[in-house]
Amino acid sequence: MNKPKVFLTRKWPDSVESKLTSRYDVTFNPLDKPLSAKDLKSALQNYDAVCPSVCDSLPADVLNVENKRCKIIGNFGVGYNHIDIQAAKNNHLIVTNTPGVLTESTADIAMTLLLMSARRGAEGDRLVRSGQWTGWCPTQMMSSDVTGRTLGLIGFGRIAQAMARKAHHGFGMKILYFKPSPADPGVINNLHAVRCDSIEQVLQQSDYVSLHCPGGESTHHLINEQRLKLMKSTAHLINTARGDVVDSKALIKALSEKWITGAGLDVYEGEPNIDKGFVNLDNVSLLPHLGSATIATRTAMGEKVLTNLAAFFADQPLPDRVA
Ligand code: DGY
Repeated sequence: MNKPKVFLTRKWPDSVESKLTSRYDVTFNPLDKPLSAKDLKSALQNYDAVCPSVCDSLPADVLNVENKRCKIIGNFGVGYNHIDIQAAKNNHLIVTNTPGVLTESTADIAMTLLLMSARRGAEGDRLVRSGQWTGWCPTQMMSSDVTGRTLGLIGFGRIAQAMARKAHHGFGMKILYFKPSPADPGVINNLHAVRCDSIEQVLQQSDYVSLHCPGGESTHHLINEQRLKLMKSTAHLINTARGDVVDSKALIKALSEKWITGAGLDVYEGEPNIDKGFVNLDNVSLLPHLGSATIATRTAMGEKVLTNLAAFFADQPLPDRVA
């Protein structure tokens, strides 16, 4: 019997690619660059499984392409706001994602950004590299304390809870969160976390605000000018969720005009094209979407896709089906 045909839109860790090629007839994208809509349509027409990543846009126009061979989209990533899920359902396309395995590494990056922003890490690095550092000085680059301060989480899923654990048990931070429905009492007790009634309350009461909601229409520009104005002038905003959860122009204004003290960003509206306004600001720490970028995590993400494909081709229930 012919092996199912699988298409990978980007380079994956070698060990996972080897396993894939031993099981399927796999085609790789040798350029390892995001594909055009035309290429993605052609992949849907020519392969049984297409495995995109978060930087491949799969809107209705692409998913509606005629004469599809594809039956399953095995997304390499937990977020799937780049895939029009309703259009996938309308086209009888199964979609799976990779939850669970990137929780800790993404929470680590959120904590990294919190610390970088609080302690002006990126700015200090730039100072040393520039040769402008003249030596220790009692008032140089004074920054914000982290230990014992208040962390407010908007969204309280796996990654937010992992960050809360690190912040509370590692740095003695007080935890506030907003999520429409109350979280598991065991989790709350362990973190002594307090649920706020609204996003506004989190913004008003926190020294650090970290965003952990999914991307998509319902959270587009959730953090806008009006909400940024509610934050303490000493506060920092951390975003490892999705870029368009924050109105970039409003954040640039807030940072330039010092409505807030700093921000740490791993994700951007329209990434990888970053609003130039961020680049010239010293009080924003910028990372290139590194949340899940550890060898172990990226390998585990690939393994998750493998497990879902194996289940699909064996007619078994899919562990991580989102459509
Ligand atoms: C995801 O999986 O959604 C991340 O943003 C990429 O690691």
